[in-house]
Formats: sequence, structure tokens, C-alpha cells
Amino acid sequence: MYTLDTDNITLYICPELILILTGRAPGNLKNRKADLLNTATSIAGNTLALFGASGATGRAIIDQALHNGLKVRALVRAASSLAIRSPQLDIITGALLNREDVTATLTGCTTAICVFGPRPPYRDIFCAEATALIVEVMRGLSIRRLLCQTGGMIGDYRANRTWPFQLMTTAFNKRLPAIAADRAKQEQMVRDSGLDWTLIKPPRLTDGAARGTWRAGTGVRLGMLSSLTRTDLSAFVIDETLHNHHLHQAVFIKN
Ligand SMILES: NC(=O)c1ccc[n+]([C@@H]2O[C@H](COP(=O)([O-])OP(=O)(O)OC[C@H]3O[C@@H](n4cnc5c(N)ncnc54)[C@H](OP(=O)(O)O)[C@@H]3O)[C@@H](O)[C@H]2O)c1
Repeated sequence: MYTLDTDNITLYICPELILILTGRAPGNLKNRKADLLNTATSIAGNTLALFGASGATGRAIIDQALHNGLKVRALVRAASSLAIRSPQLDIITGALLNREDVTATLTGCTTAICVFGPRPPYRDIFCAEATALIVEVMRGLSIRRLLCQTGGMIGDYRANRTWPFQLMTTAFNKRLPAIAADRAKQEQMVRDSGLDWTLIKPPRLTDGAARGTWRAGTGVRLGMLSSLTRTDLSAFVIDETLHNHHLHQAVFIKN
């Protein structure tokens, strides 16, 4: 899917769909008509509000979204923290805990994606409060879809962890109790939001090349060696945005 922006009109171009609709597609492509039409409709109607856009995952999601023809409105603390520029990308400079900035970011969007998280030295406790504000503004603007990334070590999900990974989780909870509690509270807020939510719970994230495959689901188990590339993670996020496979689920995901 390609986009062409001109005079405030965005043209979405899907070469495969054009071949199908003009009767020039080879047999194997014809079978994908319903799938491609469905995806094209989702893309044309979708604008993403991205919170945590300047982080490594945020930037990977922007790349993937733009590549798929989606529009993104990204809230950042400093414009200099995000180098990507595109006609499909609106950058809003402001604060996560400021209602006006969050409202400006969400206005005109269909989906909110939260990928912010604390950075070393882990003194700022803000994830639950920021998520509560985003949920509240979403409700006011009648935006239903919320994807929120936390982590595989957050919350009481023992069945999704091997015992060594559970030991590491317990150590994390002891070392950073305020952060662990804030992230667990953030998850609870998403679950209680009444929105069409998905929680995304990855293990260690890497910036390596995309593998193109991943395992995602409520039953996926993470271990000490589990990891996920941010490129694959962002492909999952965009696929989830378009197809809603995991509504009302806490999804564990790994390569
Ligand atoms: N890294 C991992 O291996 C890993 C593993 C599992 C889960 N996760 C989770 O996955 C998500 C993305 O991780 P990542 O490593 O890609 O993120 P990252 O690069 O550390 O980016 C963090 C983002 O959160 C924002 N942020 C940090 N402190 C903030 C504050 N006090 N107020 C407002 N915004 C703040 C940052 O904004 P600035 O650029 O303005 O600082 C940035 O956009 C996070 O929720 C993280 O906890 C990470």
C-alpha cells in the first residue's frame, strides 16, 4: 500500500488490489481480494495517536505505520527527540500528563497506542497516571481502540513465565517496587477502561533485524532467553491495529 498526499487529500494505492479489481491479477492473488479490501478499508479510516513516540519502540511503530500508509499523531516531550518527518506524521510537542496536549494528540484519531515507559534511573512514576488521562480523554472523544505495551515481567502472570523468568520478575519487583506497582496499576486501568483494549507484554526488546515471525497470545510463555525485535513488535502492533485479533487480551509475545 502506498500513499500520495496532495491538497489535503490522501490517495491510498494498493497495486495488488488494482490488479484484482481490473481483472488482471494472477490466480493466487485473486484469492486475497477480501483480505486486501478489508485491510485497505482499515488503513484509509485509521489514524494512530502514539504516546512514547520518541522511544525505540515508538520510532519503530512510526516507521511501520508510515510504510503501511497509516497516519500518525505523535506526542513527544521535545521535537528534537524524534527525527522522523513525513506528511503522514503530525508531531505534537507537550506533556503526557497535560490534558490539553493529550486531547490535541488524540483528536481525529481512531486508535491510541501507548509505548512509553520509565528510563534509568527509574525515578519518574508516571505510567498509570498518564494512561488514566489517555483513557479519560479517549472516552470523551469516543475513541474505542487502545493498545498498551507494558512488559512480560509486569503483573501476576506466573503461568506465562518459566520459573527462572519468574525468579527474575520477583527480583525486579523487589529492586523497583514503585515502578512495578505503577506498571501493574497501568495494566489494571487498561483492563477496567471499558475500551477495546489490548495489553502487549514482550520480553527483552532488541534492535536487531526483523525475523518476520513471532509467537503472540495469552498462553505464550516467556523465559530467560526470550526476546523480540522492535521491528517484529511494531509489525504486530500495526497488524493488531488493522485486524483486532486480540481484543480484551493481555498478549505475551516473543520471537
Ligand atoms: N527495553 C526493553 O527491553 C523492554 C522490555 C519489555 C518491555 N518494555 C516496555 O516497552 C515499552 C517501550 O520500551 P522501549 O525500550 O522501546 O522504550 P524507550 O526507548 O525507553 O522509550 C521510552 C519512552 O517513554 C518516554 N518517557 C520516559 N520517561 C518519561 C516521562 N517521565 N514522561 C513522559 N515520557 C517519558 C520517553 O520519552 P523521552 O524520549 O522524552 O524520554 C520515550 O518516548 C516501555 O513501556 C517499556 O517499559 C521494554
